[in-house]
Amino acid sequence: MRENWVSRAGFILAAAGSAIGLGNIWRFPYVVGTNGGAAFVVIYLIIILVIGFPLMVSEISLGKMTQKNPVGAFKALAPDTPWWLVGAMGVLSGFVILSFYSVVAGWGLAYVLKTLQGVFTVSNTEEIFVGHITQGLQPVLWHFIFMVLTTIIITLGVVKGIGRSVKYLMPALFVLLLMLVVRALTLEGALEGVRFYLQPDFSEITFGSLLSATGQAFFSLSLGAGAMLTYGSYLKKGDDVVSSAVWVIFLDVGIALLAGLAIFPAVFALGFDPSVGAGLAFVTLPAVFAAMPLGNLFAFTFFLLLSIAALTSAISMLEIVVSWMVDEKGITRFKATIGIAILIFILGIPASLSIGAVDISIFGISFFDFLDLFQERFLLPIGALLTSIFVGYVLKGSKLRLEVNQDSKKLKLGAWFDVLIKYVVPTAIGGILIAGWISLFSS
Ligand code: TRP
Repeated sequence: MRENWVSRAGFILAAAGSAIGLGNIWRFPYVVGTNGGAAFVVIYLIIILVIGFPLMVSEISLGKMTQKNPVGAFKALAPDTPWWLVGAMGVLSGFVILSFYSVVAGWGLAYVLKTLQGVFTVSNTEEIFVGHITQGLQPVLWHFIFMVLTTIIITLGVVKGIGRSVKYLMPALFVLLLMLVVRALTLEGALEGVRFYLQPDFSEITFGSLLSATGQAFFSLSLGAGAMLTYGSYLKKGDDVVSSAVWVIFLDVGIALLAGLAIFPAVFALGFDPSVGAGLAFVTLPAVFAAMPLGNLFAFTFFLLLSIAALTSAISMLEIVVSWMVDEKGITRFKATIGIAILIFILGIPASLSIGAVDISIFGISFFDFLDLFQERFLLPIGALLTSIFVGYVLKGSKLRLEVNQDSKKLKLGAWFDVLIKYVVPTAIGGILIAGWISLFSS
């Protein structure tokens, strides 16, 4: 028997748990920082509405309609066609993304310990960060610990493992984040950070920002890899998809915006540079914390929060792969979880080492950066593009919309949904994707 979420709130929490993760707390602020601030935030929100929302509804309802994993779902809806390959690519995405995601999550876990030890000062954080990630064995060990935590939750199953843990972890995350926002906003000089973050200057927008915003949207909403499809497959007939999708997007965007509101005021108040890139959360923030009263406590809170958010996302990536093995290959959940987790752990080892300990590079970039670029420029956008084409053209026009509307109590999808999924979403993704490849291969 396939498990079901215990309630609508159960599903929303789990899906929001998947969406909210390193993408919101680590990636979103640094991408905003390197893309000039507020104007980027506006572009990001537009992309979420126009591309993210229709895809979120589509993925969840493909899962709900078929009650299957990504491969099984496409097979059920388009038998004897190669469309199942879209699902297979999703399974590959879950596998690949988790391998390096877990490495970064491991840094977060390590930082929980470091903040407890109180090792940070205003001037040593870069040294500590670089020291840690290039150290070799240490980050691999933390990557291992993080994979073990993820594995334990997934072996317990959808209700007992995923459902129960998100019920406590998500509210905890929200409270911790609010504390940080209040702290940041009450620092002297915080206003300048708020301005950078919320007062748009559209001359800052380049094509590169558009590309980053799209990639960030897919990653943050867990779209394009069949994660939402998989979670949707544990919904029951009659469950409302549209309002759940709205909730998940609202929560995901809300937490990302709050994370920025916790970070930028603090960064400006203490005179740091918002555009340092991937180190923003790990280098700048600990320094920011070290410079303020009760800094250790807030730093500890922040990294605990980051680790919790990462965990509820990681379980959704592992679940994509596990649900495929359980449904399609008939392997028990326990065996599938352990086996896949070991393989993901192994793939993560060269990713972690390639950052500095050992020279492992592909096409002139480190193996870690290669995996990240591969998901951002190929796996997720192609997965999302093909999903929109499938829903718009293979499912024959408005089939999905009618199906969704049957169970939708308040919010109904109008014909505008067909326009979005058939024309707007595929052209937008296709255009951005191709332009992105051109810039990638000409650089
Ligand atoms: N959305 C998560 C984050 O922001 C990451 C994530 C979880 C994800 N599941 C996914 C990304 C599936 C792509 C595909 O951290």
